[in-house]
Amino acid sequence: MNDNQKYAISEYPDVEDVYRRLNALISQPMHKITPESMQANLAYFDQKCSRSKALTDEAKRYIPGGVQHNLAFNYPFPIAIEKAEGAYLWDVDGNRYIDFLQAGGPTMLGSNYAPLREKIFELLSSCGPVTGLFHEYELKLAKLIAGYMPSVEMFRMLGSGTESVMAAVRAARTFTRKKFVIKVGGAYHGWSDSMVYALHVPGTRRLESKGIPRGATASTQEFFPNSLADLRRHLIFNRLRGGTAAVILEPLGPESGTRPVPFDFNRQVRQLCDEFGALLIFDEVVTGFRVGMGGAQGYFGIKPDLTVFGKCVTGGYPMAGGVGGRADVISTFAAGLGGTGERAYIGGTLSANPLSCAAGYYALQEMERTNAPIIAGRAGDKLTKGLQTIIEKHALPYVVFNQGSIVHLETSGVMLLDLHNPLRLLKELKPRKHMMEEMGAAYMAHGLITLAGSRMYTSMADSDAIIDDALESFEAVLSSTARVI
Ligand SMILES: Cc1ncc(COP(=O)(O)O)c(C=O)c1O
Repeated sequence: MNDNQKYAISEYPDVEDVYRRLNALISQPMHKITPESMQANLAYFDQKCSRSKALTDEAKRYIPGGVQHNLAFNYPFPIAIEKAEGAYLWDVDGNRYIDFLQAGGPTMLGSNYAPLREKIFELLSSCGPVTGLFHEYELKLAKLIAGYMPSVEMFRMLGSGTESVMAAVRAARTFTRKKFVIKVGGAYHGWSDSMVYALHVPGTRRLESKGIPRGATASTQEFFPNSLADLRRHLIFNRLRGGTAAVILEPLGPESGTRPVPFDFNRQVRQLCDEFGALLIFDEVVTGFRVGMGGAQGYFGIKPDLTVFGKCVTGGYPMAGGVGGRADVISTFAAGLGGTGERAYIGGTLSANPLSCAAGYYALQEMERTNAPIIAGRAGDKLTKGLQTIIEKHALPYVVFNQGSIVHLETSGVMLLDLHNPLRLLKELKPRKHMMEEMGAAYMAHGLITLAGSRMYTSMADSDAIIDDALESFEAVLSSTARVI
């Protein structure tokens, strides 16, 4: 087995070519679903989703926006799911969908995976979900992860990716005694006060920070995606103003690799961090175990100082989060308890409960045993190749690429707008965003659930036959589009 076969990415995307195609996509008028086809798509929701509509209409009275999860705000209205199994979801009206949302990424084994569910039942009947005291599964999970990722000398389990990013940043500042944290413009690292900065669109700094005091983001900085020169500029500047505690990034690029990084990028960032005495934090909330049991760090062969986990770390069970890394840094979480050193305070009533630790322990073992990252990655490859064929057959301007089981299908290009071209951003953000919503609705009307109409996560449950079915539906949608004149 060559080394790459341990990882889901069979071939790293040609990043220059991806950006060339993406730039061509956003430099031309939108190519969207024709009004007649869109009418037919909306009729699906009217005719086939009446219970979903009734439930979510009523929910609007009690739940802000009518749904509890941001990814469920679907156009024209959210659908209510009542059954999940393998590659499929069923809504309350009995409609079946191929699930490429994967709950936002964690269910790489497939939804509601029976062998994992059984282990959870066993745990629940013996101990229940939570005691507030130590459980052996905490040790088992930490040891297992340390075995997969050499950078993880110690592991602290937490309740979500957001919390874990907060904890990693706090540990970095405590350990280095430095001030600034630098992130990539446009990247999402959870919704903590200091990280809701330059969200989604590079260069936008505090644009989304309603309810966040200036001080909370005063020590957060962004650099332009893939610009090592911009990162270096910040590192130099910070030297005189309190120093850089950490650089945090998703190793495939922001938004799960929507803006992919050149293959050598992480190695160069590692070098810059070493040169300036900053810690390197990999946010592997998405890539952790999806890219392979060694994570994206194993794939790229880079050792971060800290790694943030979420999603797959509990195989889809609540609560999913954790920070792993250098013992000397991670030990700041416990320093006060041991009576020495400064303590970076973190915690949580339900964090690292027996249920989430057992779920993580068995889920990761199942992923390794079944080769789930590679199988899901092959499904991602097949989906991507099939979509590329459809794009070429119908001469569409769309861009598809994948990093294993993470598939990006850019039809509106909205994710690529940025402040380098503010006029275009102002003019095009809204219509292109709406186009993406329409694409999401059209996919759904054809039995496909995607992440926000532009990203698909594949799972171990996605057999060749399921991908073939999905491609037929994608073709029906993509061939019903036309250039807007
Ligand atoms: C890269 C990344 N970091 C952090 C988070 C936040 O994780 P959570 O939703 O568990 O708080 C997410 C969530 O989507 C993410 O994609």
